[in-house]
Formats: sequence, structure tokens, C-alpha cells
Amino acid sequence: MNSGYEGFEASWHDFFWDAEEAPSELPLIKKFLEARKGSFLYIGSGSGRLLGPLVAAGHDVLGLECSPEMAKLSRENFPDAKVLEEEWQKHEGEYSVIVIPAFTFQLFSDPQKQLTRLSEQADSLYLTLFFPWAEIAGDLPQNEWYFDRDVVLPTGGTGELETQHKIKEEVGSLVRKHRYTMKNASGNVVRREETVQRLRFFTDAALKNLLKKSGWNIENEIKNLGEGDNDELVYVTTLHLIAVSN
Ligand SMILES: C[S@@+](CC[C@H](N)C(=O)[O-])C[C@H]1O[C@@H](n2cnc3c(N)ncnc32)[C@H](O)[C@@H]1O
Repeated sequence: MNSGYEGFEASWHDFFWDAEEAPSELPLIKKFLEARKGSFLYIGSGSGRLLGPLVAAGHDVLGLECSPEMAKLSRENFPDAKVLEEEWQKHEGEYSVIVIPAFTFQLFSDPQKQLTRLSEQADSLYLTLFFPWAEIAGDLPQNEWYFDRDVVLPTGGTGELETQHKIKEEVGSLVRKHRYTMKNASGNVVRREETVQRLRFFTDAALKNLLKKSGWNIENEIKNLGEGDNDELVYVTTLHLIAVSN
């Protein structure tokens, strides 16, 4: 299944990220790339939000993005950043380094197969994954719409995001529906769109097992994008991985 972003999910992607209070992943990726040489591929480079600044900082990174709308935004926003418009599962190539930030890997079905394929394409891998503690703990209601975020749109009016989820903890599956509503300055609905994302998530033990079976050694593990205390719940894990065969 193609999990490329379209419609409001694509065009509003950066507005919602900008409105987030979460720390940026950019310094972590920069540090990772600075210590490495060779050819770099960034899978799911999106609107160029992170790719553009990486290229501007002098890193020779090729973006790979399957959504034509996201690739277009990237080319408009960051014309110096090269982007291939292709689904990674169909992409052939060999790289020194592959980076997959911002949970894109969790959109892929059959994680073991994909990790094995990644180990054949790259010597090292930067991977960021999230863990849905709020959904598991029941802090967010299941099977009903709840308000997620809203932003003031540059064209005036607001963009609202509501979410509905269904989680199966035993199998590490999270299905998230998103409802995007565009409202004009008077608060009237102009347009509404819905999308569905099927995400996989992994317990620590399951992830370690998966990496071992697919030919990756862990070089480094960063919790919560390097912020917060060590004893906090780990919502986001960033891994630096080395392919065993290298
Ligand atoms: C969570 S967004 C992250 C975007 C970007 N990395 C960022 O942080 O701004 C996931 C991106 O991956 C793209 N994507 C999803 N599946 C893909 C695939 N199989 N091959 C290439 N791109 C993919 C989506 O279209 C979307 O732009």
C-alpha cells in the first residue's frame, strides 16, 4: 500500500510540525551525518523540512519521496535539495548511509523484510521510531474522534486536525484516521478531508529482536530526541545502526 501524503495531509504537514512543541530532529541528523562519509539517502524526505537545512549545511543528501505533492513542496521550498519521486520499496540503489527520521519507517508494512532490504542497501542507518504510550495508556479515547491540533492558515482561516485511532498492542498495530477541516475566517467549514494511516510500533524487546534478525547492530540509541531525563517514558527512539555484513 502506498502511504504517500496527499491533500491537506501534505499541504498542511509543515504547519502542524511548526505548531508542535516537540524538539527538532535536525541537530541529531546533522551530528549523525557529520561523522560519516559517502552517499546519503533520506527516505520520506517530505516537504524538505529537514532535507533542505541538511543540504544547506553542506550535506550531500538525496531525498526520496513517493508523494508527488510533498516532492513538489520540497522542490519549491528548497530548490537546491535533490528529490527522487519514487516509492522506496521500488527504489534500487546502494548508499553509505540511509536516514529515515520522523517515524516514516512505521508506515511500512512487513518491517523485518524492509529492515533486511535496508541492510542490503546501506552500511549504516539512522532510524527514528515513536511509541504510542498515550494510546496504550488510554489517555486518548479509542474509536472516537478527538481534537488533535489546529493552526492558523497563511491564507486566513484555520486548519483543524481531529484524530481517531484503533490500537492492537499485542500485534503492534495502530490505525490512525485523520480528519482535516478547513474553516474560513468566520468559522464556516470550507472543506473536509479524511486519511488513514496504518502504523507499526515495537516494544524494546521486539525491536531488538527484529534488528538482529534483519542484520543490524545497534551503535547508538538516543531517547526522546536527546531531551528529558533518563527515567522518563521513551516516546521516541533514535537508532544508529550498522549493517552486520559491513
Ligand atoms: C511522517 S512524514 C515525514 C516527512 C519528513 N521526513 C519530515 O520529517 O518532515 C512521512 C513522509 O514519507 C513519505 N512516504 C511514505 N511512505 C513512503 C515510501 N514507501 N517511500 C517514500 N516515501 C514515503 C510520505 O509521503 C511523507 O512525506
